[in-house]
Amino acid sequence: MSSNTSNTHRLNIAELPRHVAVIMDGNGRWAKKRLLNRVKGHEKGAETVRQIVRISREMGIGVLTFFAFSTENWQRPESEIHALMGLFKRLLNSEEREMQENNIRLGIIGQIDRLPEDVRAVIARVLKTTRGNDGMLLNLALSYGGRTEITEMVRRIAFKSAAGTLNPDTIDEATVADHLYTRELPDPDLMIRTSGEMRISNFLLWQLAYAELFVTPTLWPDFTADEFVSILKEYQNRERRFGKVSKSTSD
Ligand code: IPE
Ligand code: IPE
Ligand code: MG
Repeated sequence: MSSNTSNTHRLNIAELPRHVAVIMDGNGRWAKKRLLNRVKGHEKGAETVRQIVRISREMGIGVLTFFAFSTENWQRPESEIHALMGLFKRLLNSEEREMQENNIRLGIIGQIDRLPEDVRAVIARVLKTTRGNDGMLLNLALSYGGRTEITEMVRRIAFKSAAGTLNPDTIDEATVADHLYTRELPDPDLMIRTSGEMRISNFLLWQLAYAELFVTPTLWPDFTADEFVSILKEYQNRERRFGKVSKSTSD
């Protein structure tokens, strides 16, 4: 594994975020600027995914979540959805070996049953082959929506309460977190969105409560391992207060 494209100088490896979440946006605009079909932007974007996975694994980030397809993205033209599904399948097929070699486990969050059968089959296979890997979790949000996730959580808790297996009096934040798709994961410490849009777009609504947010104007296909490392450095310069007073406040 050697990317060596990045300047990791002055990065404190001991204080990396445990979980980085990414809204990879701007594939369509990247293609439009070049008078290409939007699908070309998605294809180029898949290359960026590979690079960011590689550098994250090299640095020792524990969990990397990519927003790959939202519940709202089902409203895109049929041809674009079809191309994206084909791309997810190809990407998983081609990365399976690299994930094995680099001890990377695949995770999926979202409404998997809405995905086409052939995509689900590849997902099932790669989940199985990589399940014992513990070097990094590569988590893909596919057909994912934060509101759907919260709605499903409420339904599950309500069923358990109605069945008498869960006492409503005991429901607390941990119960909620335990019924989300992300039940086994730490919350993201850092959320990066490319292409300049200042919004969350229904991504990890509960889990991003105290994430540090970074929005870069760079379009996802142009995003590099170098810029990723720069953002990590900036993240390390921020003070996370979690609602408390600053550590440097003496009085
Ligand atoms: C992000 O790029 C990829 C997906 C949502 C699948 P977009 O396709 O949203 O690109 P823009 O925002 O139109 O440029
Ligand atoms: C968010 O990007 C979803 C993904 C990156 C998969 P969108 O392009 O779909 O979001 P909006 O339309 O800008 O809010
Ligand atoms: Mg977009």
